[in-house]
Amino acid sequence: MLQEISIPAGQLAVWTEGSGPPVLLVHGYPLDHSMWDFQTSFLRDNYRTIAPDLRGFGKSPSSGDSVTMAEFADDLASVLDGLEIQRPVAVICLSMGGYITLEFWRRHARRIAGIAFCDTRAKNDPPEVAKARGVQASQVLREGTASVVESMSGKLFAEATHGAHPERIMQTRLAMEMASPAGVAAAARGMAVRADFTPLIPQLPKLPCVAICGVEDRITPLAEMEAFAALIPGCPLHAISAAGHMAPLENPTEVNHILDGFLKEIFPHAHA
Ligand code: MLT
Repeated sequence: MLQEISIPAGQLAVWTEGSGPPVLLVHGYPLDHSMWDFQTSFLRDNYRTIAPDLRGFGKSPSSGDSVTMAEFADDLASVLDGLEIQRPVAVICLSMGGYITLEFWRRHARRIAGIAFCDTRAKNDPPEVAKARGVQASQVLREGTASVVESMSGKLFAEATHGAHPERIMQTRLAMEMASPAGVAAAARGMAVRADFTPLIPQLPKLPCVAICGVEDRITPLAEMEAFAALIPGCPLHAISAAGHMAPLENPTEVNHILDGFLKEIFPHAHA
């Protein structure tokens, strides 16, 4: 079900399905909620899934020249308030969704029951990457999102996905094309100034976490995810076969199996 939820900066389009313990799904850049379709259709029998389009993506309007990860994180808290969800939620996130979830953890830890981090990192951008994001933001505002769609499409997927699931690649392209230039530029600028969570994670309240990464991820490679998982005590890392950066979309069978086990651990009574 599509719901329009008010946030201080406007409104967000939020897809909710099923009933049971709440599971919040936070998409990557420059994507939208639809990247989680294989997860929501799997989880909705036992959980209430909540999959927003972040500001400026999918059906959610953009707002602001730059949106920080902290602002996106506060939007998530507003979504939970709007849906009247007070109990802690499980968060499943990918890449930029992971950067946002780290801020959500820092700012709203009491709202979280556990986190599944997919294909993301703790570190902030090195100066040259931060600078390139600024250049990309200006280009997108001038010329539209075509250049970002092109460069991201080439990097997101494993070789095997191109042959086996071209329709998933097409669907992802369509989602990227839906994003507004202002939204893409604002998120790029926000990512460029995000905090380095490497020294911060050990200071955050303890939470159950799991890390998931496609073996062919070229954006946040497995070695980087290993370093990420090592920062969180007791956080296992699962390498997903036949998958790149979009592991949940490229190999949903393996990813859903891991999510199923993780959610059963953090919400044991849902399956009594
Ligand atoms: C994403 O998938 O969200 C992006 O690749 C993140 C990034 O550009 O750092």
